[in-house]
Amino acid sequence: MIKLLAHLSYVAITTPDVDASVEFYTTHVGLTEVARENGRVYLRCWGDYYSYSVVVVPGDEPALETMAWRTSSPEALEEAARRLEAAGVEIEWFDGYKIGRALRFVGPWGHPMTLHWDVERHQAPAHVASIYPDRPEKRSKVAGAPRQLDHVTIATSDVDGFAAWYNEVLGFRIMARTVLDEAPLSVFSVLTTNEKSHDLGVVLDGSSRAGRVNHYAFWVDTYEELLIAADTLMEHVIPIEYGPSIHGIGEQTFLYYREPSTMRIELNTGGYRNYVPDWTPNTWKPSQGSSNLYRNGAMPMSMTESFPPADGPSATEEGVPEEIRAALINPYTQHG
Ligand SMILES: [Fe+2]
Repeated sequence: MIKLLAHLSYVAITTPDVDASVEFYTTHVGLTEVARENGRVYLRCWGDYYSYSVVVVPGDEPALETMAWRTSSPEALEEAARRLEAAGVEIEWFDGYKIGRALRFVGPWGHPMTLHWDVERHQAPAHVASIYPDRPEKRSKVAGAPRQLDHVTIATSDVDGFAAWYNEVLGFRIMARTVLDEAPLSVFSVLTTNEKSHDLGVVLDGSSRAGRVNHYAFWVDTYEELLIAADTLMEHVIPIEYGPSIHGIGEQTFLYYREPSTMRIELNTGGYRNYVPDWTPNTWKPSQGSSNLYRNGAMPMSMTESFPPADGPSATEEGVPEEIRAALINPYTQHG
C-alpha cells in the first residue's frame, strides 16, 4: 500500500462557551487566533506550518468534532477514499476552510475524521514574521507556549479492534499496546503515520457512548519549556491533572490539564523517533511503567474521563467489571 497519511493537521473540538475556551487558549496555552467563521474560531501554535491547527466550535458539551490528517499526496487522498469505501464506510466530500477539497467520515467506533491534501500555508503578519526562513512565525512570548499540535487520543470500547482497523484501512503503524496485569484486556495503544511514537492514541472506554476523545496534545521543544509551562499554570491557579512525568510508551515527558470546557489537553516533549517500516508492536504491562516510566506515580482517577462526558460521573463507573475498574485506578495503568 502507498503511504496514505502524512501527519495530524488539526483538531476541531466543541465547547459550550467558545469565548471562554478561546480566551484560555490564547492567554494560557499561547495559541493565536487567526480567523472566525460561522461561529468557529481557528487557532494556531507559533510553529504550525499551516493556517491553523485547532478549531474551537460551539457545542452543547466538550467533544471531538473532527480530527484531521493531511495525506501524503493528492493521489493518496483518492486512494484513501477508495479504501474507506471498500471497507464499507460512507464518505462525504466537502470544501474545507483553507484545506480545499477534503473528505470526512465517521469511523466504525464513532470517531469523526477528516482527510485532505490541499492546505494554505501560514503567512505571518509583518509584526510577528520570523527573522528565520523556516519558521512560520516568531516564537511566542507566552511562557511554555507549544510549537505545534502533536497528537490526539480517542476512547473506544475495543482498543485492539480500533488499532487493527485504522492500520488495515488507512495504514497507521501500530507502535505499542498496554494489556492489564490483572486481566487480558487491552487498555491502550499508540498508532502513528510518521516517525513520531504516535499521532493517534487509543484508550479503553468503559462507557457505552461512541466516538469519545480522551485528550489532545501539543508539542514543546524542550523539557525545560514543559517545566516552565507547568510552573506558569500553577502560578495562574490552573490545576495540573497529571504530571509532569515521563510515559514508558513513547518515552515522552507529559503534563495534562483542562481548558474551561473541561476538555483535557496535554503538553509533550522528548521521546524517540521510530523509522522502522515493519515495526512489530510490543505489549506492555502497566506494572512495567507504560504510563509512568518511573513506576511511582499514581494516575488520577479523573484521567479515565473522556469527552463528551458519559452519563455517569466517570467512564470507569459505567459498565466496567469490578476487577477492571480496580485495575484502571492502579498507579501504573494506561494512558499516553
Ligand atoms: Fe497523549
